[in-house]
Order: sequence, then C-alpha cells, then structure tokens
Amino acid sequence: MTKADTRRFFVLGTLLCTVAFIVLTVDSHRTVVAREHSRALGDDVRRGLRVWGVYNCENCHTLLGEGSYYAPDLTQIVAQRGVPYLQAFLADPSAFYSEEEHRRLMPTLGLSAQEIDDAIAFLGWVGGIDTLGWPPRPIRVSGMPTRLPGTETASAASDPVTQGRQVFDATGCGACHSLEPGVMLVGPSLAGIARRAEERVQDAAYTGSAQDAEGYLRESIFEPSAFLAPPAGKHGTADGLSYMPGIYTNTLDPQAADELVAYLLTLQ
Ligand code: HEC
Ligand code: HEC
Repeated sequence: MTKADTRRFFVLGTLLCTVAFIVLTVDSHRTVVAREHSRALGDDVRRGLRVWGVYNCENCHTLLGEGSYYAPDLTQIVAQRGVPYLQAFLADPSAFYSEEEHRRLMPTLGLSAQEIDDAIAFLGWVGGIDTLGWPPRPIRVSGMPTRLPGTETASAASDPVTQGRQVFDATGCGACHSLEPGVMLVGPSLAGIARRAEERVQDAAYTGSAQDAEGYLRESIFEPSAFLAPPAGKHGTADGLSYMPGIYTNTLDPQAADELVAYLLTLQ
C-alpha cells in the first residue's frame, strides 16, 4: 500500500463510518418517541411509581429484569393477570398464596384502594414499554410454565387438537391455568377439565346456560362471569366478576377457539 492509498483508505473509512453514525442517530431520534412511551405517563402512573418505591416492592420483585430475585418479574403482569385479579391480590395476597404450598409469601402490605389502582396503572404502563422481549427468562409466579415463548416444538401436524394446544400456549392461558392436577394458579387446574365440564353442567349449583361439556368450555372462555368455578369466592370479585379476563371474544378467531375447545376436550 502506498502512502496515498493509506490516506484514501483512511478518508473513505472515516467518511463511511460518519455517514453510518449520522443515519443511525437520525433513526434513533425518529423512533425513540414511540419507543420511550412517555406520552402515556399519567398522574396515576407517577403515583404508582411512588407506591412501588415507598413499599419497597423492588426488594423482592424485578421489573424489566431489574430488582431482586425473591419474587416474580412483574413486567407483563397486568397483561397476564388482568386488573380485577390484581386488585384483589394486592388487597390480600394471603388469600391467594400460602406459605406451606408455595414456599414463598408476599406480605400483606396494607395498601389503600387508591394505592392499589395506582400501582396497577404503573405496572400496566411498564408492560407497555417495547422491550423487544426483555427480560428473556423472567422469574415466574409459582407453578407457571417455564417454557419460553417461541421455543415450542414446531409441529407440522395440522390436527385440531395439536393446534389447540398451540393456541393454549400462544394465548397465555397457562399464565393462570396449570395442566398439572391440583396446582392452582389464578384459576383452577385444567387437568381433567373435559370430565369436570360434563359434571359442572349437571350440577344444581351451575348458573350458566351450557348444555354439555363443549358448551361449558366455550362459555368459560367467552363469558367467564356466566358461572364462576368453585370454590365460591375464590375466583372472582364479590359482585361476581370472574378474574378470568373477558377479552377472548375479541382476541380469539373462531377457528382458534374451535381448536382450543377440541384440545381441552381431550383433557379427561
Ligand atoms: C417481601 C417480599 C415482597 C414484597 C416487598 C412485595 N412482594 Fe409481591 N410477591 C412476593 C411473592 C413471594 C409473590 C408470589 C410468588 C410466587 O408465588 O411465586 C408475589 C407476587 C406478586 C404479584 C403476582 C401475583 C400473581 O398471582 O400473579 C404481584 C402483582 C405483586 N407481588 C405485586 C407487588 C407489589 C405492587 C409490591 C409493592 C407494593 C410487592 N408485590 C411487594 C413478594 C413480595
Ligand atoms: C388472568 C387469569 C386467567 C387467564 C389468562 C385465563 N383464565 Fe380461565 N379462568 C380463570 C379463573 C380465575 C377461572 C375461575 C373463575 C371462572 O370460572 O370464571 C377460570 C376458569 C376457566 C375455566 C373453567 C374451569 C372449571 O373448573 O370449571 C376454563 C375451561 C378456562 N378458564 C379456560 C381458559 C382458557 C382456555 C384460557 C386461555 C384462552 C384461560 N382460561 C385464560 C383465570 C384465567
């Protein structure tokens, strides 16, 4: 390489890097407005952050993977659990967890109703941050499936039952329902649900309008509050609103719903 070559190489290299730097900087400034999510920062979110600090939630929990590792990561908790459940849980965690069973316990912090709503607003705001899937391995609430999204064994099978299992995983039903017998998360275990659905519609205490197991499963998914699975008082608010979110009419297309029901009907 001659001296002139070296100089050209240097000048050209510097120029290219400068152009790349400017383009990336402009691009960051263009997209950061949407990414940083600060426009959704309401007063309730700010107050919720205060609650988070004052009660030292971070001494036990992580957000965006940061904090302490005693209790679950709460980045997506509002999407996973829904507001009515979180309101009831934060008012009295001991109604949902027991030290003998879960080995870890969230203390009853004595939050006021206002503080609870603010904390949920804050957690909902955090959940809306585009983290590109971070944290990759969140600590889960006891009993939640540990399989990471996107690592399901891809299956070419197109039978409704296999598809239905995939719908179950992809829709996040497992955040609240275990498939292990006897493991209660937010909702009852769905092990043996096909048989139990059959029994439920024949039970005198049943208040919904389904005639058979399939109808019961559909009703459970699309109108969770039509009938609250026993034990009474455990799965919904005092005025009969189920902790199961009533969002699936809007988020599940009819084919996915058929497959999901076909899968649940195999859980004898
Ligand atoms: C002393 C430790 C500790 C503190 C402080 C604490 N938590 Fe928890 N929290 C826990 C444990 C333990 C669990 C349940 C973990 C499990 O079952 O795996 C939990 C669970 C939760 C859940 C999930 C419940 C569910 O079923 O999905 C939420 C939401 C939550 N905590 C919010 C908070 C908020 C908000 C604060 C602060 C106001 C807070 N926690 C403070 C220990 C704590
Ligand atoms: C935020 C938590 C939550 C999520 C997410 C959730 N559920 Fe539920 N589910 C519950 C609770 C709580 C109950 C019990 C109260 C009731 O019957 O509505 C329940 C009840 C049920 C029942 C009736 C169980 C029985 O023993 O009678 C079925 C079936 C069911 N859910 C299926 C699903 C399916 C399928 C999904 C995913 C599309 C799902 N759930 C998502 C909380 C949840």
